Amino acid sequence: MAKLTGKVAIVTGASKGIGAAIALHLAAEGAAVVVNYASSKEGADRVANEITRKGGKAFTLQAHINNPAEVQFLFAETLKRFGKLDILINNAGIYEFLALEDVTPEHFHKTFDLNVLGLLLATREAVKCFGTSGGSIVNISSISSRSAVPNTSVYSASKAAVNAITKSLGAELGPHRIRVNAVNPGMVETEGTHSQGITESDFRKETEAHTPLGRIGRPDDIAPAVVFLASDDASWITGETLFITGGLG
Ligand SMILES: NC(=O)c1ccc[n+]([C@@H]2O[C@H](COP(=O)([O-])OP(=O)(O)OC[C@H]3O[C@@H](n4cnc5c(N)ncnc54)[C@H](OP(=O)(O)O)[C@@H]3O)[C@@H](O)[C@H]2O)c1
Repeated sequence: MAKLTGKVAIVTGASKGIGAAIALHLAAEGAAVVVNYASSKEGADRVANEITRKGGKAFTLQAHINNPAEVQFLFAETLKRFGKLDILINNAGIYEFLALEDVTPEHFHKTFDLNVLGLLLATREAVKCFGTSGGSIVNISSISSRSAVPNTSVYSASKAAVNAITKSLGAELGPHRIRVNAVNPGMVETEGTHSQGITESDFRKETEAHTPLGRIGRPDDIAPAVVFLASDDASWITGETLFITGGLG
């Protein structure tokens, strides 16, 4: 039997990139998946259609994870449509890299409102929805949480916060049979990294030169580890952060 048969999962920011791959991999293991998106209805529809074409269950739902009312709506709709919730993947996130002199309160709040506060709000709603058998939460953090790359102070801080939250909530929610873990990807080629010119930059070449496995990642390098952490195979793992970086420190 597939690992996630009978489970219901929400993946935030699943219309493209890493989130889309996670949604597809969860569905391939039997989970019914809520494909959340902010603006790319077409991308979300593509992901959900691929799941249903292969015999799985999915629906798309627009909700800005930095908006508390929309977060509540996402979880209420999930219960209405699928009847329960077992897994939350906090993937929605933004990365905008600025030198210190360009950092503004707006930049800080935009980043933290989604990457940190949004993640907390979604987690809070998920905990209310999980049943007595508990649940599993996987937070998508970043190698930036520990690397010292210039011009990423705000983003890196937001992802270090995600790892700290993972540890704290792992301890807080363990007694309720809710596990909380984080996956920290290195540079991964996605729509987001393309649109920001990251995957076409010298930074990519430098990253690859220092990466033991010699290349940047693909969304499919990240998703299987997320499925593992979400599944009962990881039933005694909580509060952990797993770095998936091709070996880059
Ligand atoms: N790619 C990398 O190199 C890399 C490395 C380490 C960590 N990460 C982390 O991995 C996650 C995904 O990155 P990615 O490269 O796959 O990103 P991406 O290609 O830019 O996709 C971002 C996804 O997040 C959604 N999103 C953005 N703002 C949202 C909001 N307010 N509410 C709900 N969804 C929202 C987008 O939805 P719409 O398209 O509908 O707007 C999209 O589905 C992020 O948390 C990122 O920090 C990425």
